[in-house]
Amino acid sequence: MKTGINKKNIVLGVCGGIAAYKSVELLRLLIKQGANVRVIMTQNAREFVGPLTFEALCGQAVCTSLFEKGADASIKHIEWAEQADAVVIAPATANIIGKLANGLADDALSTFMTVVTRPVVLCPSMNTHMYENKAVQRNIERLKADGYFVLEPESGKLACGITGPGRLPEPMDIMDRLMRCLAPKDLEGKRVLVTAGPTREPIDPVRFISNPSSGKMGYAVARAAEHRGGRVVLITGPTDLPDPNNVTVIGVQTAREMGVKVFEHFDHSDIIIKAAAVSDFRPRDQADQKIKKENDQELLALEKNQDILKELGRRKKDQVLVGFAAETENLEKYAQKKLVEKNLDMIAGNLVGHPSAGFGSDTNEMTLFFKDETKEPLAVMDKEAVAHILLDRILTLMNS
Ligand code: PMT
Repeated sequence: MKTGINKKNIVLGVCGGIAAYKSVELLRLLIKQGANVRVIMTQNAREFVGPLTFEALCGQAVCTSLFEKGADASIKHIEWAEQADAVVIAPATANIIGKLANGLADDALSTFMTVVTRPVVLCPSMNTHMYENKAVQRNIERLKADGYFVLEPESGKLACGITGPGRLPEPMDIMDRLMRCLAPKDLEGKRVLVTAGPTREPIDPVRFISNPSSGKMGYAVARAAEHRGGRVVLITGPTDLPDPNNVTVIGVQTAREMGVKVFEHFDHSDIIIKAAAVSDFRPRDQADQKIKKENDQELLALEKNQDILKELGRRKKDQVLVGFAAETENLEKYAQKKLVEKNLDMIAGNLVGHPSAGFGSDTNEMTLFFKDETKEPLAVMDKEAVAHILLDRILTLMNS
Protein backbone atom coordinates (compact mmCIF):
# COMPACT_ATOMS: atom_id res chain seq x y z
CA MET A 1 0.00 0.00 0.00
CA LYS A 2 1.34 3.39 -0.96
CA THR A 3 -0.70 5.55 1.35
CA GLY A 4 -2.34 5.87 4.74
CA ILE A 5 -0.80 7.03 7.98
CA ASN A 6 0.18 3.64 9.36
CA LYS A 7 3.82 3.86 10.56
CA LYS A 8 4.07 7.50 9.48
CA ASN A 9 5.85 10.00 11.75
CA ILE A 10 3.37 12.73 12.54
CA VAL A 11 4.01 15.75 14.74
CA LEU A 12 0.92 17.22 16.39
CA GLY A 13 1.25 20.87 17.43
CA VAL A 14 -1.24 22.00 20.07
CA CYS A 15 -1.83 25.68 20.85
CA GLY A 16 -3.74 27.44 23.62
CA GLY A 17 -7.39 27.39 22.58
CA ILE A 18 -10.54 25.93 24.07
CA ALA A 19 -10.53 23.32 21.27
CA ALA A 20 -7.27 21.84 22.60
CA TYR A 21 -9.35 19.05 24.17
CA LYS A 22 -10.29 17.92 20.64
CA SER A 23 -6.64 17.40 19.76
CA VAL A 24 -6.58 14.65 22.39
CA GLU A 25 -9.20 12.81 20.34
CA LEU A 26 -7.22 13.55 17.16
CA LEU A 27 -4.14 12.01 18.75
CA ARG A 28 -6.15 8.93 19.74
CA LEU A 29 -7.39 8.48 16.16
CA LEU A 30 -3.89 8.87 14.71
CA ILE A 31 -2.47 6.32 17.14
CA LYS A 32 -5.31 3.93 16.29
CA GLN A 33 -4.34 4.21 12.63
CA GLY A 34 -0.81 3.12 13.51
CA ALA A 35 0.90 6.53 13.25
CA ASN A 36 3.92 7.37 15.39
CA VAL A 37 2.87 10.70 16.88
CA ARG A 38 4.97 13.24 18.72
CA VAL A 39 3.32 16.19 20.40
CA ILE A 40 4.57 19.74 20.82
CA MET A 41 2.52 22.01 23.07
CA THR A 42 2.79 25.74 23.47
CA GLN A 43 2.93 27.13 27.01
CA ASN A 44 -0.61 28.48 26.58
CA ALA A 45 -1.92 25.06 25.46
CA ARG A 46 -0.93 23.73 28.88
CA GLU A 47 -3.53 26.04 30.44
CA PHE A 48 -6.21 24.01 28.64
CA VAL A 49 -4.94 20.39 28.67
CA GLY A 50 -2.06 18.83 30.58
CA PRO A 51 0.86 17.21 28.71
CA LEU A 52 0.28 14.03 30.70
CA THR A 53 -2.94 13.34 28.77
CA PHE A 54 -1.07 13.42 25.45
CA GLU A 55 1.89 11.48 26.88
CA ALA A 56 -0.40 8.69 28.07
CA LEU A 57 -1.87 8.33 24.59
CA CYS A 58 1.25 8.60 22.44
CA GLY A 59 3.60 6.87 24.85
CA GLN A 60 6.31 9.51 24.62
CA ALA A 61 7.26 12.73 26.34
CA VAL A 62 5.55 15.84 25.04
CA CYS A 63 7.84 18.68 23.96
CA THR A 64 6.93 21.95 25.65
CA SER A 65 10.19 23.83 25.76
CA LEU A 66 12.72 24.95 23.18
CA PHE A 67 15.59 23.84 25.34
CA GLU A 68 14.55 20.21 25.83
CA LYS A 69 17.02 17.63 24.63
CA GLY A 70 16.31 14.09 23.39
CA ALA A 71 17.63 11.04 25.29
CA ASP A 72 20.77 11.06 23.11
CA ALA A 73 21.26 14.80 23.77
CA SER A 74 20.00 15.62 20.26
CA ILE A 75 18.03 18.84 19.80
CA LYS A 76 14.39 17.77 19.79
CA HIS A 77 12.86 20.40 17.55
CA ILE A 78 15.44 19.81 14.81
CA GLU A 79 15.35 16.02 15.03
CA TRP A 80 11.55 15.82 15.12
CA ALA A 81 11.24 18.13 12.11
CA GLU A 82 13.73 16.08 10.11
CA GLN A 83 11.95 12.81 10.91
CA ALA A 84 8.38 14.03 10.39
CA ASP A 85 6.35 12.80 7.42
CA ALA A 86 3.73 15.47 8.12
CA VAL A 87 2.70 18.01 10.73
CA VAL A 88 -0.75 18.97 11.96
CA ILE A 89 -1.39 22.01 14.14
CA ALA A 90 -4.76 21.80 15.89
CA PRO A 91 -5.96 24.11 17.22
CA ALA A 92 -3.89 26.83 15.53
CA THR A 93 -4.33 30.16 17.30
CA ALA A 94 -3.99 33.67 15.86
CA ASN A 95 -0.66 33.84 17.67
CA ILE A 96 0.97 30.80 16.02
CA ILE A 97 -0.53 31.78 12.64
CA GLY A 98 1.06 35.22 12.99
CA LYS A 99 4.40 33.76 13.98
CA LEU A 100 4.47 31.20 11.16
CA ALA A 101 3.45 33.74 8.54
CA ASN A 102 6.34 35.95 9.60
CA GLY A 103 8.98 33.32 10.25
CA LEU A 104 9.20 34.02 13.97
CA ALA A 105 10.76 31.34 16.14
CA ASP A 106 10.55 32.08 19.85
CA ASP A 107 9.23 28.86 21.40
CA ALA A 108 9.34 25.10 20.81
CA LEU A 109 6.50 24.92 18.26
CA SER A 110 7.33 27.98 16.18
CA THR A 111 11.04 27.10 16.13
CA PHE A 112 10.26 23.51 15.13
CA MET A 113 8.07 24.83 12.30
CA THR A 114 10.93 26.81 10.79
CA VAL A 115 12.78 23.51 10.29
CA VAL A 116 9.84 21.50 8.85
CA THR A 117 9.99 20.67 5.14
CA ARG A 118 7.08 18.21 4.98
CA PRO A 119 3.33 18.90 4.46
CA VAL A 120 1.56 20.87 7.18
CA VAL A 121 -2.17 20.83 7.95
CA LEU A 122 -3.08 23.99 9.83
CA CYS A 123 -6.41 24.09 11.66
CA PRO A 124 -7.28 27.64 12.78
CA SER A 125 -9.73 27.78 15.67
CA MET A 126 -10.63 30.94 17.57
CA ASN A 127 -13.29 33.57 18.22
CA THR A 128 -15.09 34.61 15.01
CA HIS A 129 -13.99 38.29 15.15
CA MET A 130 -10.44 37.18 15.79
CA TYR A 131 -10.62 34.77 12.83
CA GLU A 132 -12.07 37.44 10.56
CA ASN A 133 -9.53 40.03 11.72
CA LYS A 134 -7.73 41.45 8.69
CA ALA A 135 -4.25 40.70 9.99
CA VAL A 136 -5.17 37.09 10.82
CA GLN A 137 -6.73 36.61 7.38
CA ARG A 138 -3.68 38.17 5.74
CA ASN A 139 -1.44 35.75 7.65
CA ILE A 140 -3.59 32.76 6.70
CA GLU A 141 -3.44 33.75 3.02
CA ARG A 142 0.31 34.07 3.28
CA LEU A 143 0.59 30.60 4.81
CA LYS A 144 -1.59 29.14 2.04
CA ALA A 145 0.73 30.73 -0.50
CA ASP A 146 3.66 29.20 1.38
CA GLY A 147 2.14 25.74 0.80
CA TYR A 148 0.36 25.13 4.10
CA PHE A 149 -2.89 23.19 3.83
CA VAL A 150 -5.34 25.32 5.81
CA LEU A 151 -8.44 23.52 7.02
CA GLU A 152 -11.09 26.20 7.36
CA PRO A 153 -12.84 26.27 10.76
CA GLU A 154 -16.48 25.27 10.99
CA SER A 155 -19.29 27.68 11.79
CA GLY A 156 -21.41 27.27 14.89
CA LYS A 157 -21.87 28.44 18.46
CA LEU A 158 -18.44 28.99 19.96
CA ALA A 159 -17.37 28.61 23.59
CA CYS A 160 -17.28 32.42 23.94
CA GLY A 161 -21.03 32.54 23.13
CA ILE A 162 -20.71 34.04 19.67
CA THR A 163 -22.02 32.19 16.57
CA GLY A 164 -19.86 32.12 13.45
CA PRO A 165 -16.75 30.53 11.93
CA GLY A 166 -14.03 29.53 14.38
CA ARG A 167 -14.84 26.02 15.54
CA LEU A 168 -12.21 23.32 15.14
CA PRO A 169 -13.41 20.70 12.60
CA GLU A 170 -14.07 17.19 13.89
CA PRO A 171 -10.88 15.15 14.56
CA MET A 172 -11.99 12.60 11.92
CA ASP A 173 -12.04 15.34 9.27
CA ILE A 174 -8.65 16.67 10.35
CA MET A 175 -7.19 13.17 10.08
CA ASP A 176 -8.80 12.76 6.67
CA ARG A 177 -7.14 15.94 5.37
CA LEU A 178 -3.82 14.81 6.84
CA MET A 179 -4.17 11.52 4.96
CA ARG A 180 -4.84 13.49 1.80
CA CYS A 181 -1.66 15.50 2.29
CA LEU A 182 0.33 12.28 2.62
CA ALA A 183 -1.16 10.52 -0.40
CA PRO A 184 0.50 10.60 -3.83
CA LYS A 185 -1.44 12.70 -6.33
CA ASP A 186 -1.37 10.08 -9.08
CA LEU A 187 -5.08 10.51 -9.91
CA GLU A 188 -4.76 14.26 -10.47
CA GLY A 189 -6.97 15.26 -13.40
CA LYS A 190 -8.80 11.92 -13.42
CA ARG A 191 -12.59 11.78 -13.04
CA VAL A 192 -13.60 8.85 -10.88
CA LEU A 193 -17.15 7.51 -10.61
CA VAL A 194 -17.83 5.25 -7.61
CA THR A 195 -21.02 3.51 -6.51
CA ALA A 196 -21.63 2.32 -2.97
CA GLY A 197 -24.20 0.95 -0.57
CA PRO A 198 -27.36 -1.06 -1.10
CA THR A 199 -30.42 -0.23 -3.15
CA ARG A 200 -33.92 -0.35 -1.72
CA GLU A 201 -36.73 -1.73 -3.85
CA PRO A 202 -40.08 -0.73 -2.32
CA ILE A 203 -42.83 -3.29 -1.73
CA ASP A 204 -45.20 -0.80 -0.13
CA PRO A 205 -44.67 2.56 1.65
CA VAL A 206 -43.09 0.86 4.70
CA ARG A 207 -41.28 -2.21 3.32
CA PHE A 208 -38.55 -2.83 0.81
CA ILE A 209 -36.15 -5.47 -0.57
CA SER A 210 -32.51 -4.68 0.19
CA ASN A 211 -29.24 -6.21 1.43
CA PRO A 212 -26.80 -5.54 4.31
CA SER A 213 -24.34 -3.34 2.39
CA SER A 214 -23.16 -0.55 4.71
CA GLY A 215 -21.44 1.44 1.97
CA LYS A 216 -18.07 1.21 3.77
CA MET A 217 -16.27 -0.39 0.82
CA GLY A 218 -17.48 2.09 -1.79
CA TYR A 219 -16.98 5.10 0.49
CA ALA A 220 -13.42 3.93 1.20
CA VAL A 221 -12.76 3.82 -2.55
CA ALA A 222 -14.22 7.31 -2.99
CA ARG A 223 -12.12 8.71 -0.11
CA ALA A 224 -8.93 7.05 -1.35
CA ALA A 225 -9.47 8.35 -4.89
CA GLU A 226 -10.04 11.88 -3.55
CA HIS A 227 -6.91 11.65 -1.40
CA ARG A 228 -4.95 10.80 -4.53
CA GLY A 229 -6.18 13.87 -6.39
CA GLY A 230 -9.12 12.40 -8.33
CA ARG A 231 -12.32 14.34 -8.98
CA VAL A 232 -14.78 11.95 -7.46
CA VAL A 233 -18.52 11.46 -7.90
CA LEU A 234 -20.05 8.98 -5.45
CA ILE A 235 -23.48 7.57 -6.25
CA THR A 236 -24.76 5.85 -3.16
CA GLY A 237 -27.74 3.98 -1.85
CA PRO A 238 -28.90 4.71 1.72
CA THR A 239 -26.10 4.47 4.31
CA ASP A 240 -25.31 5.93 7.74
CA LEU A 241 -21.89 7.17 6.64
CA PRO A 242 -20.85 10.84 6.53
CA ASP A 243 -20.17 12.28 3.08
CA PRO A 244 -16.47 12.02 2.19
CA ASN A 245 -14.70 15.40 2.03
CA ASN A 246 -14.48 17.10 -1.34
CA VAL A 247 -16.51 14.39 -3.12
CA THR A 248 -19.76 15.01 -5.04
CA VAL A 249 -22.24 12.71 -3.34
CA ILE A 250 -25.50 11.73 -5.04
CA GLY A 251 -27.96 9.76 -2.93
CA VAL A 252 -30.36 7.28 -4.56
CA GLN A 253 -32.79 4.65 -3.29
CA THR A 254 -33.59 2.17 -6.04
CA ALA A 255 -31.55 0.37 -8.70
CA ARG A 256 -33.42 2.31 -11.35
CA GLU A 257 -32.47 5.64 -9.72
CA MET A 258 -28.89 4.46 -9.45
CA GLY A 259 -28.88 3.50 -13.14
CA VAL A 260 -30.15 6.95 -14.19
CA LYS A 261 -27.43 8.75 -12.22
CA VAL A 262 -24.64 6.37 -13.25
CA PHE A 263 -25.50 6.68 -16.96
CA GLU A 264 -25.64 10.49 -16.56
CA HIS A 265 -22.06 10.59 -15.25
CA PHE A 266 -20.53 7.67 -17.14
CA ASP A 267 -19.43 9.56 -20.28
CA HIS A 268 -17.57 12.13 -18.17
CA SER A 269 -15.65 9.53 -16.14
CA ASP A 270 -12.20 8.07 -16.75
CA ILE A 271 -12.50 5.39 -14.08
CA ILE A 272 -15.69 3.67 -12.92
CA ILE A 273 -15.71 1.50 -9.79
CA LYS A 274 -18.99 -0.23 -8.97
CA ALA A 275 -18.88 -1.34 -5.35
CA ALA A 276 -22.64 -0.93 -4.81
CA ALA A 277 -24.74 -3.96 -3.96
CA VAL A 278 -27.51 -3.43 -6.49
CA SER A 279 -30.70 -5.46 -6.09
CA ASP A 280 -31.07 -7.83 -9.01
CA PHE A 281 -34.85 -7.85 -8.59
CA ARG A 282 -37.58 -5.42 -7.61
CA PRO A 283 -41.23 -6.07 -6.73
CA ARG A 284 -43.27 -5.97 -9.94
CA ASP A 285 -45.91 -3.82 -8.25
CA GLN A 286 -45.54 -1.31 -5.46
CA ALA A 287 -48.60 -1.06 -3.21
CA ASP A 288 -49.79 2.50 -2.56
CA GLN A 289 -50.78 1.62 1.01
CA LYS A 290 -49.28 -0.69 3.61
CA ILE A 291 -50.10 -4.32 2.74
CA LYS A 292 -52.27 -5.81 5.47
CA LYS A 293 -51.55 -9.15 7.08
CA GLU A 294 -55.11 -10.46 6.75
CA ASN A 295 -54.17 -12.57 3.72
CA ASP A 296 -52.53 -15.74 4.96
CA GLN A 297 -50.43 -15.91 1.85
CA GLU A 298 -49.22 -12.89 -0.04
CA LEU A 299 -47.16 -13.70 -3.11
CA LEU A 300 -44.57 -11.16 -4.07
CA ALA A 301 -44.04 -11.04 -7.82
CA LEU A 302 -40.56 -9.84 -8.80
CA GLU A 303 -39.07 -8.49 -11.98
CA LYS A 304 -35.46 -8.06 -12.94
CA ASN A 305 -33.60 -4.78 -12.54
CA GLN A 306 -31.34 -3.71 -15.37
CA ASP A 307 -27.75 -4.84 -14.89
CA ILE A 308 -26.17 -1.37 -14.77
CA LEU A 309 -22.62 -2.66 -14.93
CA LYS A 310 -23.30 -4.84 -17.95
CA GLU A 311 -24.74 -1.85 -19.77
CA LEU A 312 -21.64 0.19 -18.87
CA GLY A 313 -19.49 -2.63 -20.27
CA ARG A 314 -21.43 -2.35 -23.52
CA ARG A 315 -21.01 1.46 -23.68
CA LYS A 316 -17.39 1.53 -22.49
CA LYS A 317 -14.94 3.51 -24.61
CA ASP A 318 -11.47 4.53 -23.45
CA GLN A 319 -12.32 4.05 -19.75
CA VAL A 320 -11.33 1.69 -16.98
CA LEU A 321 -14.35 -0.24 -15.72
CA VAL A 322 -14.08 -2.12 -12.43
CA GLY A 323 -16.81 -4.28 -10.93
CA PHE A 324 -17.23 -6.09 -7.65
CA ALA A 325 -18.51 -9.61 -7.13
CA ALA A 326 -20.14 -10.65 -3.86
CA GLU A 327 -20.43 -14.41 -3.71
CA THR A 328 -21.22 -17.04 -1.10
CA GLU A 329 -19.43 -19.87 -3.00
CA ASN A 330 -17.27 -20.51 -6.09
CA LEU A 331 -15.81 -17.00 -5.98
CA GLU A 332 -13.32 -17.50 -8.80
CA LYS A 333 -15.78 -19.12 -11.20
CA TYR A 334 -18.52 -16.52 -10.73
CA ALA A 335 -16.18 -13.52 -10.61
CA GLN A 336 -14.44 -14.60 -13.85
CA LYS A 337 -17.82 -15.06 -15.50
CA LYS A 338 -18.91 -11.53 -14.52
CA LEU A 339 -15.58 -10.09 -15.67
CA VAL A 340 -16.11 -11.50 -19.17
CA GLU A 341 -19.88 -11.04 -19.47
CA LYS A 342 -19.79 -7.43 -18.28
CA ASN A 343 -16.69 -6.51 -20.33
CA LEU A 344 -14.72 -5.32 -17.27
CA ASP A 345 -11.05 -4.50 -16.93
CA MET A 346 -10.92 -5.88 -13.42
CA ILE A 347 -13.29 -7.38 -10.86
CA ALA A 348 -12.81 -7.39 -7.09
CA GLY A 349 -14.36 -10.52 -5.64
CA ASN A 350 -15.27 -11.15 -2.02
CA LEU A 351 -16.89 -14.05 -0.25
CA VAL A 352 -19.64 -12.52 1.86
CA GLY A 353 -21.00 -13.89 5.12
CA HIS A 354 -17.74 -13.75 7.10
CA PRO A 355 -17.23 -11.33 10.02
CA SER A 356 -13.98 -9.92 8.58
CA ALA A 357 -15.08 -9.58 4.95
CA GLY A 358 -17.91 -8.38 2.76
CA PHE A 359 -20.98 -6.65 4.17
CA GLY A 360 -20.70 -4.27 7.10
CA SER A 361 -17.19 -5.08 8.30
CA ASP A 362 -14.33 -2.58 8.50
CA THR A 363 -12.05 -5.09 6.75
CA ASN A 364 -12.31 -7.10 3.57
CA GLU A 365 -10.62 -10.11 2.04
CA MET A 366 -10.63 -9.73 -1.70
CA THR A 367 -9.26 -11.43 -4.77
CA LEU A 368 -8.68 -9.28 -7.82
CA PHE A 369 -9.30 -10.87 -11.22
CA PHE A 370 -7.93 -9.39 -14.43
CA LYS A 371 -8.80 -9.65 -18.13
CA ASP A 372 -5.68 -11.68 -18.87
CA GLU A 373 -7.04 -14.37 -16.53
CA THR A 374 -4.52 -13.60 -13.79
CA LYS A 375 -5.67 -13.14 -10.22
CA GLU A 376 -4.29 -11.52 -7.08
CA PRO A 377 -5.52 -12.70 -3.69
CA LEU A 378 -5.25 -10.01 -1.01
CA ALA A 379 -4.87 -10.60 2.73
CA VAL A 380 -7.54 -9.40 5.16
CA MET A 381 -7.03 -5.65 5.51
CA ASP A 382 -9.11 -2.58 6.22
CA LYS A 383 -11.29 -1.35 3.40
CA GLU A 384 -9.22 1.84 2.99
CA ALA A 385 -6.14 -0.29 2.28
CA VAL A 386 -8.08 -2.46 -0.19
CA ALA A 387 -9.25 0.73 -1.91
CA HIS A 388 -5.68 1.97 -2.39
CA ILE A 389 -4.58 -1.36 -3.86
CA LEU A 390 -7.52 -1.24 -6.29
CA LEU A 391 -6.44 2.25 -7.35
CA ASP A 392 -2.81 1.12 -7.72
CA ARG A 393 -3.91 -1.70 -10.05
CA ILE A 394 -6.20 0.63 -12.01
CA LEU A 395 -3.29 3.03 -12.58
CA THR A 396 -1.14 0.13 -13.79
CA LEU A 397 -3.90 -0.84 -16.24
CA MET A 398 -4.14 2.77 -17.46
CA ASN A 399 -0.42 3.06 -17.99
CA SER A 400 0.05 -0.33 -19.68
O1 PMT B 1 -20.91 -1.91 1.60
P1 PMT B 1 -20.13 -2.82 2.52
O2 PMT B 1 -20.88 -3.17 3.77
O3 PMT B 1 -18.76 -2.27 2.81
O4 PMT B 1 -19.91 -4.22 1.76
C1 PMT B 1 -19.08 -4.29 0.64
C2 PMT B 1 -19.70 -5.15 -0.47
C3 PMT B 1 -19.80 -6.59 0.00
C4 PMT B 1 -21.09 -4.63 -0.84
C5 PMT B 1 -18.73 -5.00 -1.71
O5 PMT B 1 -17.46 -5.46 -1.36
C6 PMT B 1 -19.26 -5.79 -2.90
O6 PMT B 1 -19.01 -6.97 -3.07
N1 PMT B 1 -20.03 -5.10 -3.78
C7 PMT B 1 -20.73 -5.72 -4.92
C8 PMT B 1 -22.01 -6.36 -4.45
C9 PMT B 1 -22.80 -6.96 -5.59
O7 PMT B 1 -23.87 -6.49 -5.89
O8 PMT B 1 -22.20 -7.95 -6.22
P2 PMT B 1 -22.86 -8.77 -7.45
O9 PMT B 1 -21.94 -9.89 -7.63
O10 PMT B 1 -24.31 -9.06 -7.19
O11 PMT B 1 -22.80 -7.77 -8.67
C10 PMT B 1 -21.69 -7.72 -9.55
C11 PMT B 1 -21.44 -6.30 -10.02
O12 PMT B 1 -22.53 -5.86 -10.85
C12 PMT B 1 -21.28 -5.27 -8.93
O13 PMT B 1 -20.25 -4.40 -9.31
C13 PMT B 1 -22.64 -4.56 -8.92
O14 PMT B 1 -22.48 -3.20 -8.52
C14 PMT B 1 -23.06 -4.66 -10.36
N2 PMT B 1 -24.53 -4.74 -10.56
C15 PMT B 1 -25.25 -5.78 -10.05
C16 PMT B 1 -26.60 -5.87 -10.31
C17 PMT B 1 -27.23 -4.86 -11.08
N3 PMT B 1 -28.53 -4.89 -11.35
N4 PMT B 1 -26.49 -3.85 -11.57
C18 PMT B 1 -25.17 -3.77 -11.34
O15 PMT B 1 -24.50 -2.83 -11.77
